[in-house]
Amino acid sequence: MTALVVTESYFGNTTAIADAIADGLASSGRMSVQSVAVGKIPPRLPPGLGLLVLASPTHDYGLPRWRSRRQAEKRGGYRAETQGTREWIAGLEPDPWLKVVAVDTALQSVFTPSTAAKAAAHLLLKAGFRAARRGPTFYVGGYSGPLLEGEAARAQSWATQLAAGLAAARHSAKL
Ligand SMILES: Cc1cc2nc3c(=O)[nH]c(=O)nc-3n(C[C@H](O)[C@H](O)[C@H](O)COP(=O)(O)O)c2cc1C
Repeated sequence: MTALVVTESYFGNTTAIADAIADGLASSGRMSVQSVAVGKIPPRLPPGLGLLVLASPTHDYGLPRWRSRRQAEKRGGYRAETQGTREWIAGLEPDPWLKVVAVDTALQSVFTPSTAAKAAAHLLLKAGFRAARRGPTFYVGGYSGPLLEGEAARAQSWATQLAAGLAAARHSAKL
């Protein structure tokens, strides 16, 4: 199975989570995994894709927008690309059967009405990706990070379990 991990990140924390997820998926030995920054990919899904993971930072309780990207940049983050997860999803040809999981990074807070992963899953479902769902949130200690202790390892082990679950589902579908 081929998996694609698409990342939006301004301070590197979501990229670190995406890298850990790619490692976890690849460790199953059954997946060929490609990891790409969202600003660098065309709005086309590669043929034969079995799993898409979208990793985004939470901005203003949702997916980054142009304005929040500029704010991240002003706080010392990487220069914003013109395309983020939100814009990439909007340009995609929907695949109703493709398994898509949206994960995010966010501050650990008592009051969190929504996160980037929730917003991405909502946009994907609305766009016609019927098998899209929200995955976990991984926590940072401040706007620029760092990731809280153990979060990269948690992301890797979550991805290992995801790969095992998909392999088991494929196996039972063949029986
Ligand atoms: C403009 C802006 C708005 C943010 N809004 C939220 C928010 O609503 N909730 C939250 O938990 N974190 C918020 N954060 C913190 C981000 O989640 C944090 O910067 C991100 O997880 C770091 O990931 P990155 O290094 O990949 O950019 C915000 C950060 C920025 C720059």
